[in-house]
Amino acid sequence: MSNTTELRRKEENDLERLLFTAEDLAEMNARLGARISADFAPLIAAGKKLIFVPILKGSIMFAADLARALTVPAELEFMKVSSYGAAAKTSGEIKINLDLNRDDLEDAIVLIVEDIVDSGRTLSRLTQMLSHRGAYKVSTVTMLDKPCRREVAFTPDYVGFTIPDGFVVGYGLDFDQKYRTLPYIGILKPEIYS
Ligand code: PRP
Repeated sequence: MSNTTELRRKEENDLERLLFTAEDLAEMNARLGARISADFAPLIAAGKKLIFVPILKGSIMFAADLARALTVPAELEFMKVSSYGAAAKTSGEIKINLDLNRDDLEDAIVLIVEDIVDSGRTLSRLTQMLSHRGAYKVSTVTMLDKPCRREVAFTPDYVGFTIPDGFVVGYGLDFDQKYRTLPYIGILKPEIYS
């Protein structure tokens, strides 16, 4: 047994159970890619451009696989955001750490790509912000949706899986910056984060 395998097994031991296998995620990406492509193909054929915007860092794995499941052309940009913390929670303000620097949004369908929607604050603010900047259309896709945790009203346009509460890690999702590179999604044991 190599050292690498042992180290990975250590990470896996922190999981209570597996939630979505790599096969589940591949099926989800194919399903979402086909739906999104079919929905936007007429607009793209009519001259609009699709800008695919993963929100760093959590969406990285999902975005890379979903992008390859699209059958329509898309441009690629990135944004990185964080919450302002507890004091600003009620206002729902978010901090933009890396912005979308484009001044040609008037003919753009901006597809914001998230790993998870929890309180709904991040996507709620981002969609408002990009709409105000004059995007032709702003659409959202999230791999996971946790409607039970919503604090502001927000419904993503495309959802991979709707899940109950529980600390999910893997395939981009972290706890304390760990577990992001697992190729599947699992539920973390409560004793790890509490
Ligand atoms: C997570 C996730 C979303 C946001 C969702 O990001 O990637 O961006 O939180 O939560 P909300 O619906 O309550 O706004 P996080 O701040 O953990 O950063 P990361 O993507 O770099 O892990």
